[in-house]
Amino acid sequence: MTYSVDEDIEFETRTGEIKIHGAEGFEGMRKAGLLAAQCLDMLIPHVVPGVLTSHLDDLAREFILERGALPACLFYKGYGHTVCISRNHVVCHGIPGDWALREGDVVNIDVTVIVDGWHGDTSRMYGVGKVSARARRLVDITYEGLRLGLDAIKPGATLGDVGHAIQKYVEGQRCSVVRDFCGHGLGRVFHDSPNVLHFGRPGTGPVLKPGMFFTVEPMVNLGKPQVKVLSDGWTAVTRDKSLSAQCEHSCGVKDDGTIEIFTASPTDQFKPEILAD
Ligand code: MF3
Ligand code: CO
Ligand code: CO
Repeated sequence: MTYSVDEDIEFETRTGEIKIHGAEGFEGMRKAGLLAAQCLDMLIPHVVPGVLTSHLDDLAREFILERGALPACLFYKGYGHTVCISRNHVVCHGIPGDWALREGDVVNIDVTVIVDGWHGDTSRMYGVGKVSARARRLVDITYEGLRLGLDAIKPGATLGDVGHAIQKYVEGQRCSVVRDFCGHGLGRVFHDSPNVLHFGRPGTGPVLKPGMFFTVEPMVNLGKPQVKVLSDGWTAVTRDKSLSAQCEHSCGVKDDGTIEIFTASPTDQFKPEILAD
């Protein structure tokens, strides 16, 4: 048996250039972003004490496949799951499996879907039962950091302005910004140029231009910024074991130089309610 490669299929790859997308790209990203957001909306009532994280992963995978889309993380660089579930001192890339959420956990769930070839990538924080006041404060700071970063996107702004806005706010709250992971360009490619750092100096880095698509996804620690990756090759944790939080949007720069958020929650639950002491 021989196999031939269909020469009509072209795979876009990361070239190092920042791609400029047109109307078709915006249409594609709106659909992908909406489905990713709907998936995280769907999970909200399931994030409860005792739930197996493998069950949340199953729910997400089925939700995506039933809607004719693909889970981008499944088999991505050998990752075997649909979502990443990162709780407490796990910074990112926590692996769902035969472990349950516990009362008091603060958890990030990160999902990326592919719809008609376009990637929608988003993550949120969920509280499991009632969480501590300091955990809730960290989550609030993380969301405000993302909001301020997105707010810095305006005509003539640079990616350094975005990173600076996040860093200045987060450090002003005596928290720290993780340096080892960043946001990324995306579109038909999952992780594309540019790297979107969540720290930086004003006026540095690429100037934002209409048609650029990227994520902003700050990881914020209550303690020091240093992380280490566990022996599973994925799970990143804070070195000082301090709590970490993250939230992520996929967005595009519109013709007027302002931002369109592709992964906004249609039910206005991008920041699910968190009960705290
Ligand atoms: N969704 C993550 C991001 O924000 C990437 C996860 S890659 C995986 O870029 F393989 F760990 F799933
Ligand atoms: Co991302
Ligand atoms: Co993500």
